[in-house]
Amino acid sequence: MKLGVFDSGLGGILISKAIRAAFPEIDMVYLGDTLHVPYGNRSETAIFQYTKACMDYLFDQGCAVIIVACNTASASALRRLQQEYLPMHYPERRILGVVVPTIEEAVESGYKNIGVIGTNYTVNSAIYKNELQKIDPSIAIHQACTPLLVPLMENGGEAWIDDVLESYLAPLSKAGIEALLLGCTHYVHLKKRIRALYGFDVLSQDEIIPEKLIKYFKNHPELFDKIDRHGNSIFMATDITPSYAQNASLLYGHLIQLQQVEIHG
Ligand code: DGL
Repeated sequence: MKLGVFDSGLGGILISKAIRAAFPEIDMVYLGDTLHVPYGNRSETAIFQYTKACMDYLFDQGCAVIIVACNTASASALRRLQQEYLPMHYPERRILGVVVPTIEEAVESGYKNIGVIGTNYTVNSAIYKNELQKIDPSIAIHQACTPLLVPLMENGGEAWIDDVLESYLAPLSKAGIEALLLGCTHYVHLKKRIRALYGFDVLSQDEIIPEKLIKYFKNHPELFDKIDRHGNSIFMATDITPSYAQNASLLYGHLIQLQQVEIHG
């Protein structure tokens, strides 16, 4: 069996790469729903339908565990998938999200003034703010929707990113945040730039998820043991253009073959 990594698009390749570094031997499959990216401006109903169809596909490919690397899907669809879909269709398998491990890390880090950026859906859901403050009401959270970042990153808008970032982050900087939580897969790509330009720390999921997954598998060896160990990686997307294919290799750091798959929701 395999470990699946799912994202709405290609940003999750950065998480997949980090997981691969932590688990060099396991068989992994990546699925990016490029046909429907971005999820961040869509309704809960649409996000659930798209994510569920991708879960079906990945389980059909033999995934024992799927990491929903997409923050938007984790914020929106994950609970329903875990509580309704999984027990009915795949009771022996697991779907894990990125929100809970990221919150754990933020709390463990001891920051008391945290900035959160993400898609419109993720930020408006206030999932990070509510869950963090449930654990520690003394934590101040300053959120900002940053919807232009993904389109800029996906469409060669590098030249504008610093200016757009500055206008998004200035209010958070002014609020004196100690750390910025990057609540979107794509933003992993921006962490170095943010660390270089701003005085606060950065909570980046490529540094968080692999560590948390190591712990998870230690507690659940029965799941880890189901995953084959040939070191195979498969990369799939629901729509491929030459620029998606190029971008995927760029994000992964070396040439990868992106396979196009057709998913019926
Ligand atoms: N992958 C999404 C996330 O992590 C960002 C892109 C989108 O809007 O689909 O929230």
